[in-house]
Amino acid sequence: MEQTNTLTKIQEAAAYIRSKYAAKPEIGLILGSGLGVIADLVEQAVVIHYEDIPHFPVSTVEGHAGELLLGTIEGRHVLLMKGRFHMYEGYGVETVSFPVRVMKELGVDKLLVTNAAGGINTSYVAGDLMLIKDHINFTARNPLIGPNLNELGVRFPDMSEAYSKRMREVAKAVAAEQGVKLQEGVYIGLLGPSYETPAEIRMMRTLGADAVGMSTVAEVIVARHAGIEVLGFSCISNMAAGILDQPLSHAEVMETTERVKQTFLKLILGVIPKV
Ligand code: 6GU
Repeated sequence: MEQTNTLTKIQEAAAYIRSKYAAKPEIGLILGSGLGVIADLVEQAVVIHYEDIPHFPVSTVEGHAGELLLGTIEGRHVLLMKGRFHMYEGYGVETVSFPVRVMKELGVDKLLVTNAAGGINTSYVAGDLMLIKDHINFTARNPLIGPNLNELGVRFPDMSEAYSKRMREVAKAVAAEQGVKLQEGVYIGLLGPSYETPAEIRMMRTLGADAVGMSTVAEVIVARHAGIEVLGFSCISNMAAGILDQPLSHAEVMETTERVKQTFLKLILGVIPKV
Protein backbone atom coordinates (compact mmCIF):
# COMPACT_ATOMS: atom_id res chain seq x y z
CA MET A 1 0.00 0.00 0.00
CA GLU A 2 2.67 2.42 1.06
CA GLN A 3 4.70 1.40 -1.99
CA THR A 4 1.85 2.06 -4.39
CA ASN A 5 1.47 5.36 -2.70
CA THR A 6 5.09 6.39 -3.24
CA LEU A 7 5.01 5.25 -6.86
CA THR A 8 1.76 7.11 -7.45
CA LYS A 9 3.19 10.26 -5.94
CA ILE A 10 6.26 10.06 -8.16
CA GLN A 11 4.09 9.49 -11.22
CA GLU A 12 1.68 12.30 -10.39
CA ALA A 13 4.51 14.76 -9.84
CA ALA A 14 6.13 13.67 -13.12
CA ALA A 15 2.84 13.87 -15.02
CA TYR A 16 2.32 17.46 -13.88
CA ILE A 17 5.84 18.45 -14.96
CA ARG A 18 5.38 16.68 -18.30
CA SER A 19 2.18 18.65 -18.87
CA LYS A 20 4.26 21.84 -18.69
CA TYR A 21 7.29 20.64 -20.64
CA ALA A 22 6.86 17.94 -23.23
CA ALA A 23 10.50 17.18 -24.05
CA LYS A 24 12.40 14.52 -22.10
CA PRO A 25 15.04 16.06 -19.82
CA GLU A 26 18.30 14.17 -20.01
CA ILE A 27 20.43 15.82 -17.34
CA GLY A 28 19.28 16.70 -13.83
CA LEU A 29 21.05 19.53 -12.02
CA ILE A 30 21.01 20.05 -8.26
CA LEU A 31 23.12 23.05 -7.41
CA GLY A 32 24.30 24.13 -4.01
CA SER A 33 24.19 27.49 -2.31
CA GLY A 34 25.24 30.39 -4.47
CA LEU A 35 25.13 28.58 -7.79
CA GLY A 36 21.50 29.33 -8.50
CA VAL A 37 22.69 31.72 -11.21
CA ILE A 38 23.10 28.76 -13.53
CA ALA A 39 19.34 29.00 -13.79
CA ASP A 40 19.85 32.16 -15.88
CA LEU A 41 21.66 30.08 -18.48
CA VAL A 42 18.78 27.73 -19.13
CA GLU A 43 17.35 28.60 -22.54
CA GLN A 44 13.64 28.52 -23.36
CA ALA A 45 13.14 27.86 -19.67
CA VAL A 46 9.80 26.72 -18.31
CA VAL A 47 9.63 27.60 -14.62
CA ILE A 48 7.53 25.50 -12.28
CA HIS A 49 7.13 26.44 -8.62
CA TYR A 50 7.63 23.51 -6.27
CA GLU A 51 4.35 24.30 -4.53
CA ASP A 52 2.46 23.69 -7.78
CA ILE A 53 3.88 20.19 -8.27
CA PRO A 54 1.76 17.48 -6.62
CA HIS A 55 3.55 15.88 -3.63
CA PHE A 56 6.69 17.97 -4.17
CA PRO A 57 8.35 19.28 -1.03
CA VAL A 58 8.34 23.04 -0.56
CA SER A 59 11.36 25.12 0.48
CA THR A 60 11.11 26.78 3.85
CA VAL A 61 14.40 28.60 3.98
CA GLU A 62 14.48 32.26 3.08
CA GLY A 63 16.40 33.02 -0.07
CA HIS A 64 15.85 29.55 -1.47
CA ALA A 65 13.76 29.90 -4.58
CA GLY A 66 11.95 26.61 -4.81
CA GLU A 67 11.61 26.37 -8.57
CA LEU A 68 12.12 23.69 -11.12
CA LEU A 69 13.47 24.87 -14.45
CA LEU A 70 13.23 22.86 -17.63
CA GLY A 71 14.94 23.94 -20.80
CA THR A 72 18.19 23.54 -22.65
CA ILE A 73 21.80 24.32 -21.83
CA GLU A 74 24.20 24.05 -24.76
CA GLY A 75 21.49 22.19 -26.63
CA ARG A 76 20.90 19.51 -23.98
CA HIS A 77 17.54 19.17 -22.28
CA VAL A 78 18.03 19.77 -18.57
CA LEU A 79 15.92 19.81 -15.45
CA LEU A 80 17.35 22.13 -12.84
CA MET A 81 16.36 22.36 -9.20
CA LYS A 82 16.64 25.93 -8.03
CA GLY A 83 16.60 25.34 -4.31
CA ARG A 84 17.29 21.96 -2.75
CA PHE A 85 16.19 20.32 0.48
CA HIS A 86 18.45 19.60 3.41
CA MET A 87 17.86 17.27 6.32
CA TYR A 88 18.98 20.00 8.76
CA GLU A 89 15.87 21.94 7.76
CA GLY A 90 13.87 19.11 9.23
CA TYR A 91 13.04 17.23 6.03
CA GLY A 92 13.18 13.46 6.08
CA VAL A 93 15.60 11.61 3.87
CA GLU A 94 12.73 10.50 1.56
CA THR A 95 11.66 14.10 1.10
CA VAL A 96 15.16 15.29 0.28
CA SER A 97 15.57 12.61 -2.37
CA PHE A 98 12.02 12.59 -3.79
CA PRO A 99 12.88 15.04 -6.60
CA VAL A 100 15.52 12.61 -7.90
CA ARG A 101 12.87 9.90 -8.16
CA VAL A 102 10.72 12.29 -10.15
CA MET A 103 13.69 13.11 -12.40
CA LYS A 104 14.11 9.40 -13.15
CA GLU A 105 10.43 9.06 -13.97
CA LEU A 106 10.83 11.94 -16.44
CA GLY A 107 13.69 10.20 -18.18
CA VAL A 108 16.75 11.84 -16.62
CA ASP A 109 19.72 9.50 -16.82
CA LYS A 110 22.53 11.81 -15.72
CA LEU A 111 22.69 13.88 -12.56
CA LEU A 112 25.04 16.73 -11.85
CA VAL A 113 25.24 17.76 -8.19
CA THR A 114 27.21 20.56 -6.60
CA ASN A 115 27.63 21.68 -3.03
CA ALA A 116 29.68 23.89 -0.76
CA ALA A 117 31.94 21.92 1.52
CA GLY A 118 34.58 22.40 4.17
CA GLY A 119 38.11 21.29 3.29
CA ILE A 120 39.44 18.44 5.44
CA ASN A 121 42.42 17.64 3.26
CA THR A 122 45.11 20.05 4.47
CA SER A 123 46.50 20.51 0.96
CA TYR A 124 43.24 22.18 -0.07
CA VAL A 125 42.60 25.92 0.14
CA ALA A 126 39.34 27.83 0.28
CA GLY A 127 38.17 28.44 -3.26
CA ASP A 128 39.34 25.09 -4.62
CA LEU A 129 36.92 23.06 -6.67
CA MET A 130 36.79 19.34 -5.95
CA LEU A 131 35.51 16.59 -8.16
CA ILE A 132 33.72 14.09 -5.92
CA LYS A 133 35.39 10.71 -6.39
CA ASP A 134 33.32 8.94 -3.76
CA HIS A 135 31.31 9.68 -0.66
CA ILE A 136 30.92 8.56 2.93
CA ASN A 137 27.33 8.61 4.12
CA PHE A 138 27.69 9.85 7.70
CA THR A 139 24.05 10.85 8.12
CA ALA A 140 22.90 7.52 9.57
CA ARG A 141 19.94 7.81 7.17
CA ASN A 142 19.29 5.95 3.97
CA PRO A 143 16.52 6.94 1.57
CA LEU A 144 16.06 3.34 0.43
CA ILE A 145 15.01 1.99 3.84
CA GLY A 146 11.59 0.36 3.70
CA PRO A 147 10.03 -1.97 1.16
CA ASN A 148 12.05 -1.84 -2.04
CA LEU A 149 10.37 -0.27 -5.04
CA ASN A 150 11.36 -2.96 -7.52
CA GLU A 151 10.04 -0.84 -10.38
CA LEU A 152 12.75 1.70 -9.59
CA GLY A 153 15.74 -0.43 -8.73
CA VAL A 154 17.15 -3.40 -6.85
CA ARG A 155 16.98 -4.05 -3.10
CA PHE A 156 20.73 -3.84 -2.58
CA PRO A 157 22.14 -1.34 -5.07
CA ASP A 158 25.82 -1.40 -5.91
CA MET A 159 27.63 1.75 -4.81
CA SER A 160 31.10 0.85 -6.09
CA GLU A 161 30.96 3.58 -8.71
CA ALA A 162 28.61 6.08 -7.11
CA TYR A 163 30.30 8.89 -9.04
CA SER A 164 30.73 7.93 -12.67
CA LYS A 165 34.32 7.34 -13.71
CA ARG A 166 33.39 8.22 -17.28
CA MET A 167 31.88 11.55 -16.30
CA ARG A 168 34.79 12.34 -13.98
CA GLU A 169 37.19 11.86 -16.88
CA VAL A 170 35.12 14.29 -18.94
CA ALA A 171 35.17 16.81 -16.10
CA LYS A 172 38.94 16.52 -15.70
CA ALA A 173 39.47 17.03 -19.42
CA VAL A 174 37.25 20.13 -19.45
CA ALA A 175 39.00 21.54 -16.37
CA ALA A 176 42.41 21.01 -17.98
CA GLU A 177 41.23 22.68 -21.18
CA GLN A 178 39.94 25.66 -19.22
CA GLY A 179 43.03 25.84 -17.02
CA VAL A 180 40.92 25.27 -13.90
CA LYS A 181 42.56 23.64 -10.89
CA LEU A 182 40.41 20.67 -9.94
CA GLN A 183 41.02 18.58 -6.84
CA GLU A 184 39.53 15.11 -6.64
CA GLY A 185 38.46 13.64 -3.34
CA VAL A 186 36.02 11.97 -1.00
CA TYR A 187 32.99 13.90 0.27
CA ILE A 188 31.58 13.04 3.67
CA GLY A 189 27.94 13.97 4.17
CA LEU A 190 26.58 14.87 7.62
CA LEU A 191 23.22 16.08 8.88
CA GLY A 192 24.41 19.44 10.24
CA PRO A 193 23.45 22.15 10.93
CA SER A 194 26.29 22.72 13.39
CA TYR A 195 29.71 22.59 11.81
CA GLU A 196 32.07 19.92 13.12
CA THR A 197 34.48 20.11 16.01
CA PRO A 198 38.22 19.89 15.33
CA ALA A 199 38.21 16.39 16.88
CA GLU A 200 35.47 15.29 14.50
CA ILE A 201 37.40 16.69 11.56
CA ARG A 202 40.56 14.80 12.60
CA MET A 203 38.45 11.63 12.83
CA MET A 204 36.99 12.18 9.37
CA ARG A 205 40.44 12.78 7.89
CA THR A 206 41.54 9.44 9.37
CA LEU A 207 38.47 7.85 7.79
CA GLY A 208 39.54 9.04 4.36
CA ALA A 209 37.40 12.11 3.81
CA ASP A 210 38.71 15.17 1.96
CA ALA A 211 35.71 17.48 2.24
CA VAL A 212 32.66 17.72 4.49
CA GLY A 213 29.17 18.99 3.85
CA MET A 214 25.49 18.68 4.70
CA SER A 215 23.89 17.52 1.47
CA THR A 216 24.22 15.30 -1.59
CA VAL A 217 24.53 11.75 -0.19
CA ALA A 218 20.77 11.00 -0.04
CA GLU A 219 20.16 12.29 -3.56
CA VAL A 220 23.09 10.29 -4.92
CA ILE A 221 21.95 7.05 -3.25
CA VAL A 222 18.50 7.39 -4.85
CA ALA A 223 20.08 8.24 -8.20
CA ARG A 224 22.30 5.16 -8.15
CA HIS A 225 19.38 2.95 -7.11
CA ALA A 226 17.60 4.21 -10.23
CA GLY A 227 20.64 3.67 -12.45
CA ILE A 228 21.30 7.37 -12.96
CA GLU A 229 24.93 8.27 -13.68
CA VAL A 230 26.22 10.89 -11.24
CA LEU A 231 28.79 13.66 -11.44
CA GLY A 232 29.48 15.76 -8.33
CA PHE A 233 31.53 18.84 -7.51
CA SER A 234 32.24 20.50 -4.18
CA CYS A 235 33.27 24.09 -3.85
CA ILE A 236 35.69 24.17 -0.93
CA SER A 237 34.21 27.28 0.63
CA ASN A 238 36.35 27.24 3.77
CA MET A 239 38.71 24.95 5.62
CA ALA A 240 37.01 22.71 8.18
CA ALA A 241 37.30 23.27 11.94
CA GLY A 242 40.72 23.16 13.58
CA ILE A 243 42.77 23.51 10.41
CA LEU A 244 43.17 27.28 10.35
CA ASP A 245 43.25 29.41 13.47
CA GLN A 246 39.88 31.00 12.78
CA PRO A 247 36.20 30.31 13.42
CA LEU A 248 33.87 29.08 10.68
CA SER A 249 31.04 31.21 9.40
CA HIS A 250 28.28 30.86 6.87
CA ALA A 251 29.30 34.32 5.65
CA GLU A 252 32.67 32.93 4.57
CA VAL A 253 30.96 30.04 2.81
CA MET A 254 28.84 32.51 0.82
CA GLU A 255 31.76 34.86 0.11
CA THR A 256 33.95 32.10 -1.29
CA THR A 257 31.15 30.65 -3.39
CA GLU A 258 30.57 34.12 -4.81
CA ARG A 259 34.28 34.53 -5.58
CA VAL A 260 34.63 31.27 -7.53
CA LYS A 261 31.16 31.28 -9.02
CA GLN A 262 32.19 32.29 -12.55
CA THR A 263 34.91 29.63 -12.76
CA PHE A 264 32.56 27.00 -11.36
CA LEU A 265 29.81 28.01 -13.79
CA LYS A 266 32.13 27.91 -16.77
CA LEU A 267 33.33 24.45 -15.77
CA ILE A 268 29.79 23.12 -15.45
CA LEU A 269 28.77 24.72 -18.74
CA GLY A 270 31.79 23.14 -20.39
CA VAL A 271 30.94 19.75 -18.97
CA ILE A 272 27.23 19.64 -19.89
CA PRO A 273 27.61 19.26 -23.67
CA LYS A 274 30.35 16.66 -23.22
CA VAL A 275 28.67 14.24 -20.85
CL1 6GU B 1 33.30 22.95 7.54
N1 6GU B 1 31.16 21.48 7.40
C1 6GU B 1 29.98 21.13 6.91
N2 6GU B 1 29.34 20.10 7.47
N3 6GU B 1 29.41 21.73 5.85
C2 6GU B 1 30.07 22.75 5.30
C3 6GU B 1 31.29 23.18 5.79
C4 6GU B 1 31.82 22.51 6.87
N4 6GU B 1 31.71 24.23 5.02
C5 6GU B 1 30.75 24.41 4.10
N5 6GU B 1 29.77 23.54 4.26
